[in-house]
Amino acid sequence: MNRQLIAPRKRGIDLGKRPEPLLGDRPITGDRYWDPAFAAAEWRGIWTRTWQVAGLERQVREPGDFLTAELGWESLLFVRGEDGEVRGFYNVCQHRGNRLVEAEEGSLAAFTCSYHAWRYDLEGVVREVPDPGDFRQGSPCGRLRLPQVRTALFAGFVWFNLDPGAPPLADYLGEVGEEIATYGMERMVRTHWVTVEGDFNWKCVQDNFNESYHLPFVHPQTRFMMNCAGTEHQQDLYPTGHARIIIEGCRPDARWSGEAARIEAAMREELAFWDLDFERFRANPLAMRAALQQAKRAKGPEKGYDFSSYTDAQLTDHFHYTIFPNLSLSLKPDGCIFLRANPHPSDPAKCLFDMWYFTLFPKGAKTYHCQTMREVVSIETPAPHLTGRWPEVSVGEAIDQDVRVWTGQQKGLRSAGYRREYLPWQERRVRFFHETIDRWLAA
Ligand code: FES
Ligand SMILES: [Fe+2]
Repeated sequence: MNRQLIAPRKRGIDLGKRPEPLLGDRPITGDRYWDPAFAAAEWRGIWTRTWQVAGLERQVREPGDFLTAELGWESLLFVRGEDGEVRGFYNVCQHRGNRLVEAEEGSLAAFTCSYHAWRYDLEGVVREVPDPGDFRQGSPCGRLRLPQVRTALFAGFVWFNLDPGAPPLADYLGEVGEEIATYGMERMVRTHWVTVEGDFNWKCVQDNFNESYHLPFVHPQTRFMMNCAGTEHQQDLYPTGHARIIIEGCRPDARWSGEAARIEAAMREELAFWDLDFERFRANPLAMRAALQQAKRAKGPEKGYDFSSYTDAQLTDHFHYTIFPNLSLSLKPDGCIFLRANPHPSDPAKCLFDMWYFTLFPKGAKTYHCQTMREVVSIETPAPHLTGRWPEVSVGEAIDQDVRVWTGQQKGLRSAGYRREYLPWQERRVRFFHETIDRWLAA
């Protein structure tokens, strides 16, 4: 079985500050974002060697259930076999190379190629072809099979790695895997599923999720609901190349704590859900965070939540993980935002950007008001996959604010007037990210 046994830490997350790695000062130049030669090196050095998410385990619950995933020009097929195992394959017919499965998900007893009707079983083996006696080299039935791809199941996701010799997912994720495991994401439901094509390199996305310096300016609304002061955020840079940042939530930034009306508007719904009145905090809104932690502890069970495995900070704060190379998870006990930047198959100045939102429905609840997405979601309506070009298709108000700046940044990165970055200390994860890229490219 390819399930990864990554045990959650028993007493919640280790909040301790990790040692700072030594970082260099090599320029992060613009060509990294548009040069096809650099993109080709990334394909060989990173995309074909790192663990990636294909989709959700929920999509492949029963034998015959399948999903497909794209990475660059590759399409991969993941199928639950009769034996319960989820297997991954290159989605390419072994006759003359047609793409075997076009659908994104579904359930089938066998896969039949649309070109000459070769038929594959759930284990990827050719079982039926027209005129099997006409092959002078022998019938392909039982002899040819779809090339297999390493697959693992963890946190409700199907993961894959194109490198047959890659270390197991548990080693790849390291302690970040144990921290993610505490959130029980497999119990959450994907309530938003959006993919947009945008005019920026995938690293514009990951750079952005690696720093909080932009928060109060690109997302002015955050000033009233979290501590945006980047110099006060705890950042942990793990030897695996992954990183986390912890941002205190359910409180305004001290620089804007006098704006009671804006704070009230930003926090009203969450306070009301937990039976708290803003009047208590009008004079001192910084006190909201601790009060909300206590309210969630006290009232969690009656509201349908079990928060017993979480530390107080996890109840209010933003635990944002950047998982190398292209995934970000912002985790809360009642939901998680999944943000991913996939490389465009042919143009390094474009990107396929995914926003998935996962909701943990309180026990017995069929609908839920999602604070992060600011809308009511239903457990009975599976999220449809919205796809298209940005901005025709939106990824939600807050993330659209980020997409807007990546689009402008990509233009500047192509200019002869851009020489290199000039980073404050609080943006050191951006440097760490690029040094991790260089490490993979050199290996
Ligand atoms: S290419 Fe698939 S059957 Fe011919
Ligand atoms: Fe942002």
